[in-house]
Parts: sequence; structure tokens; C-alpha cells
Amino acid sequence: MIDITDRVCNKALRDRIVTAEEAAEFITPGMNVGTSGFTPSGYPKAVPLALAERMKKTPFKINLWTGASVGPELDGALAQVNGIGFRMPYQTNKDIRNSINRGDIDYCDLHLSESAQLARYGYMHGNKIDVAIIEACFIDEQGHIFPTTSMGNSASYVKTADVVIVEVNTTQPVELCGMHDVFVPEDPPYRQPLGVVAPDTRIGKPYIECPLSKIKYIVPCDIPDHTRPLGAIDDDAKAMSKHFVEFLKQEVAEGRMPKNLLPLQSGVGNVANAVISGLKDSDFEHMTVYTEVIQDGMFDLFDAGKLDFASGTSLSPSPEGQKRFYSNLDAYVPKLLLRPEEISNSPEVARRIGVIAMNTAIECDIYGNVNSTRINGSRLMNGIGGSGDFARGGALSVFFSVSTAKDGALSSIVPMVSHVDHIPQDVDVICTEQGLADLRGLSAKQRALEIIDKCVHPDYKPLLLDYFKRAVAATKNADTPHILEEALSWHVRAMKTGSMKK
Ligand code: COA
Repeated sequence: MIDITDRVCNKALRDRIVTAEEAAEFITPGMNVGTSGFTPSGYPKAVPLALAERMKKTPFKINLWTGASVGPELDGALAQVNGIGFRMPYQTNKDIRNSINRGDIDYCDLHLSESAQLARYGYMHGNKIDVAIIEACFIDEQGHIFPTTSMGNSASYVKTADVVIVEVNTTQPVELCGMHDVFVPEDPPYRQPLGVVAPDTRIGKPYIECPLSKIKYIVPCDIPDHTRPLGAIDDDAKAMSKHFVEFLKQEVAEGRMPKNLLPLQSGVGNVANAVISGLKDSDFEHMTVYTEVIQDGMFDLFDAGKLDFASGTSLSPSPEGQKRFYSNLDAYVPKLLLRPEEISNSPEVARRIGVIAMNTAIECDIYGNVNSTRINGSRLMNGIGGSGDFARGGALSVFFSVSTAKDGALSSIVPMVSHVDHIPQDVDVICTEQGLADLRGLSAKQRALEIIDKCVHPDYKPLLLDYFKRAVAATKNADTPHILEEALSWHVRAMKTGSMKK
């Protein structure tokens, strides 16, 4: 077993160091297991892998509550042995997604800012967490738990769980200590205003508090975060980034935003990363970030001297970004803060500090409704994640999408989305590689004309304009004109023929 005594300073806890297999024995069928982790960062690895091995021999299921998506040693390993009965609040794993879409896993897709409170209230499956498994880089003499590369829902899961298992991961540097700001708000009616007034405001402690009696096992682990590579920034992403940077410059010129912009939030993935990277080549300086996921593009901004501070709930670098972070801890750690997702994604804070919310859509409709989660209205992709928290709370809410999908066979702008995650009141701007539609202050029909004009691919513009004009005539100029059977048959046609054009 790896020696972790130098990372476990509390002497009583040293007696509880066991192997992953021994700790996994504690987990029994139907248990609610709450874990650390947000994106493939800071999630437990050794105990879930040992649990999956056990499930291979004796099949059973647990209910898995995390911060958001996690890495393959947890989501992937358990899904592959059909070991998950219920999952919340977000995922991005192919095996989990397929199991959910086959009906093998019940999935509760939540606003991430609400997931900890729902867990604390006991709304979730079976009411309470039986065991919390938390990755840590260090435990001090008082038994305080120092988290690693994500914060997620760990503090609330530790607070509500009957039993806590801590995985001490020796690949996570102890220099991460101090990068976290752990604060668990009281539940209503006792909650006080969150005191966060800027991305660098601290309101909590740098560790998770847990009664020593609750910590049953400490497990050594030397498996690193299984970070995901980022795709190359393609021409579409570059075009979206260019449109958006131009728009921001205009906002500053019009006096609607300060010269250093407002704190930035950006979603996960390549497009989000490309937009952030685009800001590196802009004239904006002294920017700040108030987001959930800190990605490579933000390290680019730090290195270019453009970004002063970034607050999030998770570090989610690519493998290259991970190396870059670990080899420059002295430079990056003082400029970073990881908070519980209840605080990083708090709509209250996002509204107060005026976040610029940048998220990605699967499809948008001509009136500004956005589908971020379900293909053809039915098949789950990932989940709403934090997009709703920021879109509703932020000062400016932008959705990005390439104007077509499936090699041009589908338009990402449709008459009526097949599933709604974000309503037009939460969508200020839609940006595709074709252009940017500023929807603020427009009526529904004005929005439709702006979106069709600026965002739709030329192949689909005549189709959508024709639909809109006929819908206006058919409804005698109603507020939000639709021909329902046609709006629906748009999707039906695409499903049957694989294309919207046929
Ligand atoms: N119709 C049908 N399928 C579509 C489509 C459309 N209009 N647009 C995209 N797709 C398909 C793609 O073909 C791809 O399918 P594949 O996996 O079979 O290749 C899949 O949907 C994902 O598309 P892609 O363009 O690769 O998406 P992405 O990586 O840019 O992610 C979201 C886009 C919306 C799925 C992702 O951003 C997400 O999960 N968002 C919700 C959560 C969120 O916003 N979190 C951040 C908050 S801080």
C-alpha cells in the first residue's frame, strides 16, 4: 500500500487507513453514495474501481450523487458493470448516457446550484446519503479535509452523509491546499445573503470540516485525474469567437460594460474554450472569471497577463493543461479559487456581480428558446449542468452553436425546439459561425427576423423565413406565430430522412 502518513497528520485517522477493496466492502446494494468530483477532476478513483470489481462478481446497484460529470474510474467503471440505479445531477459519460437512454439508470437532471440543497433537504432518492467518498490531497492534525482539483458538492455530502471515506490521492500536490473556499449556507429560512461581491471574495474556510467519528476509512490512491483532450480550435469556433469579441467591444464602446468587461462564465468544451482563447488576442485587460469550470483557455489568459483572477468549482484542463498547471503551481494557485458549486453557480452571486454567461446549445428556435440537453426532444446528451444557473442569473446570457449539425444535414436553428432548457427571457444573444443576434429588448417576431438574418446557415434561411411568414399569416400576426404541425414535422422529417432539407 502507498505510504500516505505524511499526508494524514491526524494520528487517530492514521489507524483507519485501509485498501480500496476493504473500503469498498462497506458499500452495499441500494446505498446512496455521494462523491467528490466535477468534470474528470477531483473524483475518487480507487474505491469506485474496487467497487466495480466487486459488482462484476456479485451484481448490485448503488445510487450515485456527484458534483457533475466525473472521470471513467467512477462513472464509466460503475456503468460498465450496470452498477448504477440512479444518477444525479449531471454526466457526460458515454456508458452512463446509453444506460440512461435505455432506461437502465434513472437520471435526475438538475440545476447544479440546487443539487446540494436538494440533497440536504432529503428530496433525493432514499432521502439521505449513506456514504460520502471524497478525494483529498491532505488531512491536517484536526482532521480537516483538503480537497483537490474540484470542490463540487463535497462539503454538503460530507455534512449529510452517515459515513465518510476519504481517498488521499498522492498525485494531487499538497500545494493545492489554500485554493479552496468552503462554505455551506444554511437552508431557508435561516440563509443569510452570500457575501461574494467579486470573484476573489472568500467567505469560507480552505478545508472541509468533518467530525472525526464520521470518517470510517482513509484510502491511499495514486491514480491521476483522467483529463480529456480538447479538440483543435476549428474555423467555426474561431468565427464565433470573432463575432463575440466584436460584440463585447461594441458593448464597451456604448458604455454598457466596463473596459475590463464583467466576470466571465464559460461552459465546458471546445467552443467555450475557443471563445475564451479568442479573448487572449483582444485588447481587453484585467479580466476576471466567475464560472464553474476553469479550462485551458483561462491559463492562456493568465499567461498573456490579461486575466487577474478566476473563481470556479473545478479545474478542468486538457492533459497538456494539467501538466502546465502542475508545473506552475506557484504562479496559478494564488489566482484561483474553487468553491462549492452551490456558490460558484449561485444565481444570486451571478446577478450581483453581473456575470457574462457563455454556454452552448444543441439547437435554438427562431424565437430564442434553447435546447441544450435532448436530441430530438428525447435522447439525453449530458444535462443542463450550470447553464441555467448562469443564463438566468447573469447580466448577459449568450448561447453559441454551429449553425448546422451532422455535416450540414440539420439546421441548429429550427422553428420550435424539440425540448426547452432555456426560455427566451434567459437568452440575450445567440451566436453561430454565421453571425450574432442581439435579442435584447426585441419582441418575439423581431427576435425571429434577427435570428434568421444573423445566425441561420444560407442553406436553411429561405426555409425558415418561409415558415415564419406563413406562420404570421396563419395566426393573423399573433405574438409568437407558429404552425404547430409544421414545427413538429420539421423534426419528424429530420428523424426520418436524416435531413431537414428533404
Ligand atoms: N440536432 C441533432 N443532433 C445534434 C444537433 C442538432 N441540432 N447539434 C448537435 N448534435 C449532436 C452532434 O452531432 C453530436 O452528436 P455525436 O455525439 O453523435 O457526434 C452531439 O449532439 C454533441 O454535439 P457537439 O457539437 O459535439 O456538442 P458540444 O461538445 O459542443 O456540446 C452541448 C454541446 C450542448 C451538448 C454541451 O455544451 C452541453 O452538454 N451543454 C449543457 C450543459 C452546460 O451548458 N454546461 C456548462 C455550464 S457552465
